[in-house]
Amino acid sequence: MPKIIDGTDIKSIDIAINELNNGHVIALPTETVYGLGADATNNLAVQQIFSIKDRPAINPLICHVHKDFELSAYVEVSPQARILMETFWPGPLSIICELKEDTPIASHVTAGLSSVALRAPHHPIFEEILKRFARPIAAPSANKSQSLSPTSAEHVAESLSHADIYIIDGSIAPIGLESTIIDARIQKPILLRHGAISVQDIEACLSCSIDVSTQPNKEGKVLSPGQMLKHYSPQKSLKLNITQPNNDEAWLSFGSNEINHPFELNLSETGNLDEAAKNLFSFLWKADKLNVKYISVAPIPNEGIGVAINDRLNRAAREKS
Ligand code: TXA
Ligand code: MG
Repeated sequence: MPKIIDGTDIKSIDIAINELNNGHVIALPTETVYGLGADATNNLAVQQIFSIKDRPAINPLICHVHKDFELSAYVEVSPQARILMETFWPGPLSIICELKEDTPIASHVTAGLSSVALRAPHHPIFEEILKRFARPIAAPSANKSQSLSPTSAEHVAESLSHADIYIIDGSIAPIGLESTIIDARIQKPILLRHGAISVQDIEACLSCSIDVSTQPNKEGKVLSPGQMLKHYSPQKSLKLNITQPNNDEAWLSFGSNEINHPFELNLSETGNLDEAAKNLFSFLWKADKLNVKYISVAPIPNEGIGVAINDRLNRAAREKS
């Protein structure tokens, strides 16, 4: 059974470092969602992440580093990647870089690819752990594969109830959606997953346009192995763009409305998309527990972080694969 420990207690950092040094897996708070972390240079430790999550071995993990970590022994940092790191780290941007031939990153992390996704998370507890551990920490979201992402320690404990791990409680994840992923190995970078850092943010930073490829193309080719999988799903079926909900379904609304609904959860009464992003997964967790047939969701404006919210909702609404 998982054990939740208070991340503000300095002893919890010692426990985390000890667990990582011993090749164990621990759940850690980030500003996006909780991660299930292990020493990224230890193949046996990394393998446990895949088995606890029931994650296909073909789906590579993101490596977390402190923003000041010296990357030169690990990866090639392209000029574009360097600018993005300097602008957005620590923060919710994962940057794909080419691996150095003799990189210490364990092969299971990258699922055999020649590249790795790197991110410097912006959370005081995780940053302190990264500083002291001084090696990259591989960490996917700390949930069972395909299910809802965890934005609290309690979500992790529920999703991974079978695992004997420590969960470092760092309070509710303030952003609530996984990081933006960008492949920055090429002159014109390609965005592979939408997140809190938008296409416009990146284009403004690099002063050039970028490509977006968040779905498999017509031939089924994927640039990021996670794209082909159903994701982020509650147990109950999800219906999108609902403005007139039935009374036998939970309704995730957005903005003010005149409807009196028995199972309404308002993502943001003031129509604030950042607040809606923060609430999205935790409201889906709540709605999943209500005695209702379906979960319906109101239309969400497709701008700013709303693009990432709609991306997650569309994947969550897909039939199970
Ligand atoms: O916010 C986040 O990114 C969270 C927190 C814990 O940092 N992590 C997270 O990890 O969302 P995960 O495993 O749930 O999603 C990682 C995604 C997957 O879709 C994977 O296929 C993609 O990143 N990915 C990882 N390495 C890649 C690579 N070298 N090339 C292309 N895609 C990669
Ligand atoms: Mg995930």
